[in-house]
Amino acid sequence: MDVVKILGIESSCDETAAAIVEDGTRLLSNVVHSQIDIHAAYGGVVPEVAARSHIEVINPVIQAALDQAGIDWGDVDAIAVTNAPGLSGSLLVGTIAAKTLAYLKNKPLYPIHHVEAHVYANFITSQGSATKLTLPSRQPKFPMLALIVSGGHSQLVLFRDHGNYTLLGQTQDDAVGEAFDKVAKIIGLPYPGGPSIAQAAQQGDPKKYQFPKARLANPYDFSFSGLKTAVLRRVQREIGEDFTFPSHELPARVGDQMRHDFAASFQHVAIETLVDKTTFAYHDYNPASVVIAGGVAANLELRAQLAHALPCEIEYAPIQLCTDNAAMIACLGYYRAQHTPPVSPFELEIQPSASMQQLQENDV
Ligand code: KG4
Ligand code: ZN
Repeated sequence: MDVVKILGIESSCDETAAAIVEDGTRLLSNVVHSQIDIHAAYGGVVPEVAARSHIEVINPVIQAALDQAGIDWGDVDAIAVTNAPGLSGSLLVGTIAAKTLAYLKNKPLYPIHHVEAHVYANFITSQGSATKLTLPSRQPKFPMLALIVSGGHSQLVLFRDHGNYTLLGQTQDDAVGEAFDKVAKIIGLPYPGGPSIAQAAQQGDPKKYQFPKARLANPYDFSFSGLKTAVLRRVQREIGEDFTFPSHELPARVGDQMRHDFAASFQHVAIETLVDKTTFAYHDYNPASVVIAGGVAANLELRAQLAHALPCEIEYAPIQLCTDNAAMIACLGYYRAQHTPPVSPFELEIQPSASMQQLQENDV
């Protein structure tokens, strides 16, 4: 069979992205329009603002992905689009664009689950001349243990093959990325909290403040809401206030060194929790490979601790493919096309709260 070029489209949260991936492995273009600057002023994503911004840029972003890859519509074999999960208004923009283009250009259309797609950033191992990323040297092998950690999800998933996976555990409350974002707000670091905490932590003492780790019945489940509250209470105590002191007034009372120490101490416990559970699952399931995926996978402390804790070698996707992008959507689109038929552009709908496990059950 000829090479297959898939156009991926992603707009589930605050990034408008399009990319072309060949044969589920070779990246030809990767265009990401981030709205971080727009939302930073509010300290988080404002759904209506996000949807409006997606509308403004979606067409130019898709055209830029084709241009960057040096191809035109005749070369595109299929379209893959994130239709789940995410913010409704945001998901709608990318999904309607994909449905319209699939109909107009007569291309097969594949709906993609954003969280499952994050894992596929690890399957991109070569690239054309338009991108200059540091990619893994080979694709992960099955069975593959995936730690998926983003702003909306924290999961440990065992993949037996493409499209065949089991959820081992997940967060019972906040996602780990959400905890980074909320703690950043408490101590007065800018949105998004992940990168700003990671940076501040470099100048802080990770042992300065001790925070508890949640104990849960299922050893693969996570809980980060208690950790976030523990940070809040400790910050209140450190500045000499009680639990009634409003959290939005805290940043002005936290000095630079204290901010760095809180960032380092929080990051240390949050990352250690992820590493402990991944290592535990590794020994229980003995997978052929381990991957990390999602925005928090960009965290260098996580990479360092995991490399140290696991007895196997682990390769990491570049940071640009860990945070939201459409390359991972196009990549998963390729593997999906191998075992499921395309959907009608007239029937595809968004599924803002569908889990990847629900979608897998619907497939079989
Ligand atoms: O996957 P992603 O781009 O969007 C979602 O699907 O949620 O993940 C965004 C999350 C945010 O919570 C952000 O703070 C976090 O990933 N993040 C990080 C880092 N970079 C992004 N968390 C920790 N360390 C980082 N370096
Ligand atoms: Zn994401």
